[in-house]
Amino acid sequence: MFGLARRYVKTALVYFALGLVLGAWMLVQQALGSGAHPSLVSAHTHLTLIGFMVTLIMGIAYWMFPRPAKEDMRYSPSMAEVNYWLITVGTGVRFAGETAQAIHQHPAEWALVMAGAALQLIAGFIFVWNIWTRIRSVGSQIRETRGEKF
Ligand code: HEM
Repeated sequence: MFGLARRYVKTALVYFALGLVLGAWMLVQQALGSGAHPSLVSAHTHLTLIGFMVTLIMGIAYWMFPRPAKEDMRYSPSMAEVNYWLITVGTGVRFAGETAQAIHQHPAEWALVMAGAALQLIAGFIFVWNIWTRIRSVGSQIRETRGEKF
């Protein structure tokens, strides 16, 4: 497993742990009757679904999908690196903004949430663009035409 893929997976695990801790904290708040602030529910959702699941999927895809073809002018390892920083920083900034909203309820914190969300959005589109040509058959198509089932 190469360095960038390891970084994706480890970052995903850190966000997973953070999301679980936040989930547990919200559950305690609910049990005590104060209820979880909607911004915290959003922070938890984005930590677990984007920070953990999406980041993990990206890292595993960059690691395991077929290598780019020699004539592939679209796939770029540098974009995979940019993709990593956008999803990681975007998720972190959004988490900071949503947590701050739950504490202060200051309208300026929307700027942080919007900035984080924008970075996550761009990261998502970069991933779709970058990984697209790596979804290709490397031998399995030939075996499939011979009648083999997968
Ligand atoms: C992979 C793990 C998890 C995922 C993907 C996940 C995902 C979600 C999502 C999408 C929501 C929003 C649901 C809604 O809008 O009604 C949510 C809410 C919540 N989650 Fe999690 N969650 C995970 C683990 C946990 C754990 C381990 C806990 C507690 C220990 C927890 C506690 C909560 C609480 C308290 C809420 C707020 C529910 C509400 O206010 O209706 N979550 N979670």
